[in-house]
Amino acid sequence: MSKKDAKEYDVVVMGAGPAGYVAAIRCAQLGMKTACVDEWINRDGKPSLGGTCLNVGCIPSKALLESSHLYAMTKSGFTAHGIKLSQAQLDLPAMMARKQNIVNELTNGIAGLFKTNKVDLFQGHARIASGLLVNIKDRRTKEVIERLQAKHIIIATGSSPVSLPRAEPKDDMIVDSAGALEFTAVPKRLGIVGAGVIGLELGSVWSRLGSEVTLLETMDEFLSAADQQIARSALRAFKKQGLDIRLDARLVSADVKGKQVKVVYENKQGEQQESFDKLVVAVGRKPNSDLMFDAEMEIELDERRFILVDEHCETSSPGIYAIGDVVRGPMLAHKAMEEGVMVAERIAGQSTEVNYENIPNVIYTHPEIAWAGKTEQQCKQLGIDYKTGVFPMAANGRAKAMHAAEGMVKIISHAQTDRVLGVHVFAANASELIAQAVTAMEMQCSTEDIQLTMFAHPTLSEAIHEAALAVDGHAIHIKN
Ligand code: FAD
Ligand code: NAI
Repeated sequence: MSKKDAKEYDVVVMGAGPAGYVAAIRCAQLGMKTACVDEWINRDGKPSLGGTCLNVGCIPSKALLESSHLYAMTKSGFTAHGIKLSQAQLDLPAMMARKQNIVNELTNGIAGLFKTNKVDLFQGHARIASGLLVNIKDRRTKEVIERLQAKHIIIATGSSPVSLPRAEPKDDMIVDSAGALEFTAVPKRLGIVGAGVIGLELGSVWSRLGSEVTLLETMDEFLSAADQQIARSALRAFKKQGLDIRLDARLVSADVKGKQVKVVYENKQGEQQESFDKLVVAVGRKPNSDLMFDAEMEIELDERRFILVDEHCETSSPGIYAIGDVVRGPMLAHKAMEEGVMVAERIAGQSTEVNYENIPNVIYTHPEIAWAGKTEQQCKQLGIDYKTGVFPMAANGRAKAMHAAEGMVKIISHAQTDRVLGVHVFAANASELIAQAVTAMEMQCSTEDIQLTMFAHPTLSEAIHEAALAVDGHAIHIKN
């Protein structure tokens, strides 16, 4: 196939995860002739759109978090409400089938959106050659099956799990996060290397379904990116729920012996040994930036192999953009999507920006942890003069009524300007509560603006109002 056979497009998007599919749809909405190339093959060997997020990430994990939470509630959570149930039974195949149906509906939904918006979809591995040419290779034969000539290229090839040489994936015994979404039976003893977001979410799923879960975390600080007052409170709550979180635990080896994974790790007391039915490795993700460019291409990568981009996601090569997990910043679906919209609109001549200061973070445990803006430790490091207000959920009427009175809301404001710098929530539905904080911060609100806003009663949101009042020492429902 020669270069002159190439199909011509205004924009070619590589990858159909949240970054790529959103960018492609927005480009098409703006009147550009758009193609999207994706290579994802699902567990049935079929192409499936939506990338990590829809296939093995956000969506299947949240489906299992929801189901496992309901199961745990039937076991003990409802008795406080005066509801007694006869023995609840777990139907794991049905739970997994429900999860897979949701994934299938949503991934097929992307294909439908592409059709409606007239985005041309190509299946295969995309590789950029000079002159803004994209070659698409068949994944199996490695033959070039299509050439696309672009005016602009958007790279949205995402990320993959980091594997540890001391705990390489092995059969279905040592697995990554995708494997941990597919267990066919509840492991009696489950080990997880890494007490980060995935470790806590998937650890919660299997713990609620009956596993004894041990998390081995190399750092001596729990959730170092979160506000440490919230992290300490969350650590206590998760330990109470039965998650055995061991900090300062450095993995030495993990070996499959028969039906067990034998793990050796080191802590201050010396070498320790554990035996698990399954081991999940969840120690971060790395950008998919290899095998994407022909040798003559000069696209710069940073020292961690993320594609180097400016604040508008432009690479060092004119006409080529990169967005989502393959570039710097948090590896989050909503950050990826916003970058997709920004790049599409900038190609169309608009001056859209992404506010990287105001990205919400959520950990979907129970209670949930959510935050936006600066943590107290960041304010200290940056020498910012700040004030804080904290309101415990135990003093919130709705939380009491829900039997979900664990946790708190914390607001950090600038001591002089009163501008809200950070909002941190550890509470039921924190993922929803944080949206109002993000809106407030996007509008550059002061704490006083929140204080003077009326909140419906009784709602969990009132805790945000009270935390804002607490910043100036006049919360109503607690001693200031
Ligand atoms: P991806 O979703 O990884 O998509 C990249 C796509 O590009 C893939 O389809 C891949 O096959 C394709 N591709 C790669 N290279 C090529 C190539 N050369 N040619 C053609 N196609 C290619 N984030 C949240 O915000 N909220 C959550 O609740 C959440 N939960 C998560 C749970 C888990 C278990 C995991 C693993 C992740 C979770 N994430 C969550 C993170 C989220 O999934 C990612 O941030 C998001 O998927 C990044 O989107 P992306 O489009 O950049 O990349
Ligand atoms: P993570 O960065 O959240 O956590 C990894 C943890 O592993 C860290 O605490 C780290 O200190 C620890 N670690 C690293 N090496 C280790 C070792 N050798 N031994 C023991 N511990 C070790 O990464 P995670 O959980 O893998 O998630 C990957 C990405 O996916 C995250 O960046 C996150 O943004 C995204 N994600 C987002 C979710 C959400 O938004 N709710 C849910 C799940 C994933």
